[in-house]
Amino acid sequence: MSDPDNILNGFESKFSLIKNKDDLQNLKSEFLGKNGSISFQFKKMGSLNPEERKIFASKLNEIKNKITFEIEKKLKNFENNEINEKLKDEKVDITLPIRTTKNGKIHPVSQVIDEISSIFSEIGFSVAEGPDVESEYNNFTALNTPEDHPARDMHDTFYLDKDKKTLLRTHTSPVQIRTMLDGKPPFKIIVPGRTYRCDSDQTHAPMFHQLEGLHIDKDITMGHLKGCLNYFIKEFFEVKKIKMRFRPSHFPFTEPSAEVDIGYKIENGKIVIGEGDKWLEILGCGMVHPNVLKNTKVDPNKFQGFAFGMGIDRLAMLKYGINDLRAFFETDYRWLNHFGFDPLDVPTNYRGLSR
Ligand code: DAH
Repeated sequence: MSDPDNILNGFESKFSLIKNKDDLQNLKSEFLGKNGSISFQFKKMGSLNPEERKIFASKLNEIKNKITFEIEKKLKNFENNEINEKLKDEKVDITLPIRTTKNGKIHPVSQVIDEISSIFSEIGFSVAEGPDVESEYNNFTALNTPEDHPARDMHDTFYLDKDKKTLLRTHTSPVQIRTMLDGKPPFKIIVPGRTYRCDSDQTHAPMFHQLEGLHIDKDITMGHLKGCLNYFIKEFFEVKKIKMRFRPSHFPFTEPSAEVDIGYKIENGKIVIGEGDKWLEILGCGMVHPNVLKNTKVDPNKFQGFAFGMGIDRLAMLKYGINDLRAFFETDYRWLNHFGFDPLDVPTNYRGLSR
């Protein structure tokens, strides 16, 4: 048998024993490497006469091609197997039953919106909604905030067009306008929803949640406003008594306007609402300005009422002891698992809001 034939036989018997990619790489360099058997044979050719050399070279090339082919084929095989193994591990079996140990949780903001809706529905408010993308008219002008009014700058508005005619609503107050234009008085609504301002730090997010309230009827007074807010705050914080004070303020859409503070104290590092001598601002409110009623075709000589607006995220933080607003929007499952609520525990006034 010639040397090339020996090489092929040697290769085949070793090749049949190959178990993995490393073995294969070793075999490859043993036969095809710079100092491998094939190269060695090529080097020997110099001692042959031209006729013999031709036959020898062609035979050697044939063997080299065969070995190369077998090795490459096997290598591909190993690589495919590797990929298939990996895919097997990573496969998601969508027919698997759900994990009962990891139920989803209700986000504290959703929980607080449910609680608020339940509290206000007990005294006859219904829930209204409006779009996040709002007209400049509903967000400002109709709310008695003309173009040159400084309140517009204070809102850090995200405008959506060059002409500043469309925007992301900066508050839930435009839903007052939509509701009144859409129906006839009386109106008694709350509006929970997303609002947007170009602002972001530890206590401000560019998207946040507000709750608007509006009650328009005959003979509604500031006394009704006080009673309503007093009831709400007691129910929301689940306390029997609260301290509340009204401070004069200014909003273009109310006259008179007030900001409301509630009394609190810190006990063992925790906030206690309703006692103590510290004050916390929680909402803005007032009697709806006659211009707002005129803009919505409600006769201010017959009807009047109050409105209020507050930050839902802040209420949630206060009630549930969460101190970084940004965590609300980070979708971290561990955070949600800790601060979230059982989906089946729907808050109601009579069964308890936040058990
Ligand atoms: N829209 C006001 C804001 O975002 C909050 C507000 C204050 C709403 C007084 C009202 C109100 O309805 O009467 O700052």
